[in-house]
Amino acid sequence: VDPALVRNFSIVAHIDHGKSTLADRLLEVTGTISKREMKDQVLDDMDLERQRGITIKSRAVSMKYQHNGKEYELNLIDTPGHVDFQYEVSRSLSCCEGAVLLVDAFQGVEAQTVANAYNAIEHDLEIVPVMNKIDLVHARPEEVKQEMEQTLGINPDEVLGCSAKSGLKCDEVLAAVIDRIPPPRGDANAPLQAMVFDSVYDEYRGAIIYVRLMNGTVRKGQRIQFLQAGTVHEVVEIGQLAPKRTQRDLLSAGQVGYMVCNIKSLGQVHVGDTVTVATGEQAKPLPGYAEPNRMVFCGLYPSDGQEFEQLREALSKLQVNDPSFEFEPETSDALGFGFRCGFLGLLHMEIVQQRLEQEADIDLVQTAPNVTYRIQTKDGNWEEVHTPTRVPDVGDIEEFQQPIVRVSFVMPSEYVGGVMKLCADRRGVFVRQEYLSPTRVMLVYDLALAEVVYDMHDKLKSTTRGYGTMDYELRGYETGDLVRLDILVKNERVDALSIVCDKRDADNRGRAVIKKLKKEIPRHMFEVALQAAIGTRIIARETISAMSKNVTAKCYGGDISRKRKLWEKQKEGKKRMKSIGSVDIPQKAFLAVLETG
Ligand code: GTP
Repeated sequence: VDPALVRNFSIVAHIDHGKSTLADRLLEVTGTISKREMKDQVLDDMDLERQRGITIKSRAVSMKYQHNGKEYELNLIDTPGHVDFQYEVSRSLSCCEGAVLLVDAFQGVEAQTVANAYNAIEHDLEIVPVMNKIDLVHARPEEVKQEMEQTLGINPDEVLGCSAKSGLKCDEVLAAVIDRIPPPRGDANAPLQAMVFDSVYDEYRGAIIYVRLMNGTVRKGQRIQFLQAGTVHEVVEIGQLAPKRTQRDLLSAGQVGYMVCNIKSLGQVHVGDTVTVATGEQAKPLPGYAEPNRMVFCGLYPSDGQEFEQLREALSKLQVNDPSFEFEPETSDALGFGFRCGFLGLLHMEIVQQRLEQEADIDLVQTAPNVTYRIQTKDGNWEEVHTPTRVPDVGDIEEFQQPIVRVSFVMPSEYVGGVMKLCADRRGVFVRQEYLSPTRVMLVYDLALAEVVYDMHDKLKSTTRGYGTMDYELRGYETGDLVRLDILVKNERVDALSIVCDKRDADNRGRAVIKKLKKEIPRHMFEVALQAAIGTRIIARETISAMSKNVTAKCYGGDISRKRKLWEKQKEGKKRMKSIGSVDIPQKAFLAVLETG
């Protein structure tokens, strides 16, 4: 294939601005899928997903399109829209020469529009700005163009308008992709150098690898090597997605496609790795290989202890599809056997949880999410801690660091005060404020990731009546005024309830947890003391007074069957209790407490 006739691009957008709809429309306009197939295709894929657990979306679709009398190969590479998958976004973008920046003609520029656009600019991509949904009656094209100019320096005259829903002017988007985005560079005769930008797992074929060829040519039957992993494989099949897998004899410099190499699990494939030939002259590795960075952790426990093995199996299965997620067994006095799981971010955590509950049908108890802490102990050693219970006692800590993120908020200007207060309450450091248009504002703050993880998204939505959006990126680790807060029931520490928080919040958090516990734990024959403590210092205390009479007492005179019923009921209740020392704590109590963060 002549690289001059190839264009590689992605569509980047804030969620709900119409990325998938535009992709579908482009497939239709180019005749890659007919209108009738469009429906079948969607159904087909959903079935597939259900039966085989592979990802619905084609990650890199090849389309053919006639323009100015020539036939072009247009490769549309999908990028995850969310910040959690920043690393994958970067990999996908480095496979493109350009990006369609899609902005909703009513919603305008949002937090992830800005983040995605900057990302594309950093990768030296040619940006084709497109306003979508111009069919909407309340579209405000002139203001949205102004917002794009103000935030991203985009020339308003270059902004195209289209309706991905009706197909209006979608052919103009394709023409602009060809005219404005440069063709790929690269030499088909140089040593093979291809970037792995994604992979999916197929039960029958193993890992399917998506590659962008930078240089050289790859053929079926050839032996290739992954440069970082060092492994050698035979190419069993190569091809392109159109959008079904379509076999080809070879792929050459500038092209995008898939390879099947009999690789059993996704764990053996590293997104960002470089593929070259196994023998003969090898290419240099492409820059930017890095392990995914897990930022958020939580414990997952089956609510029924019996389901521990089932949960392990479900987690392993998920990991085959998603190596960026990790887990290891952990035990908690309160919750029994479970797993500590690491995620790229909050959204990633939600997705994994949903998939577990849907696909494996296991009821889960999730502990409060926490971030990675870096702690230097008095003996000078540094360690990374992912579980509050593993945080050493106050007296042993020299320095306590936490991840800091830079958060961008976009909102209508009337909510600026509210969002500023929200950030100030969470000890955010103001970075800047920018008017995108007379009515819309972007606020940038540096905040502790732990504060963002805690409840920032919910609070933002309620403060801005749903109109605010946010996005964040990791800045690094900074020393914080942090403590491990423990909860003691009858003088015993309950591990699942320990949290790490800012010292200045400890009193409030401690009191809130104890109040909740007091409500949820039933009375016992003896007094039960509840305490919140930092090390040996008690910062809050409550007491559940002893029960005066046996419950059956009120049945005196009643018939025996009524009494039996009561006893039965008590036994039932008992099963759902966890005993800490001699105190029975209903599982509901743990949940209630975890809900407070
Ligand atoms: P993914 O994140 O990839 O799922 O896509 P997306 O969130 O960017 O948006 P999606 O394509 O799912 O579209 C979001 C909503 O906007 C859907 O309800 C679409 O039907 C609607 N939509 C998309 N394009 C248009 C358009 O041109 N006009 C109108 N009126 N609605 C549109």
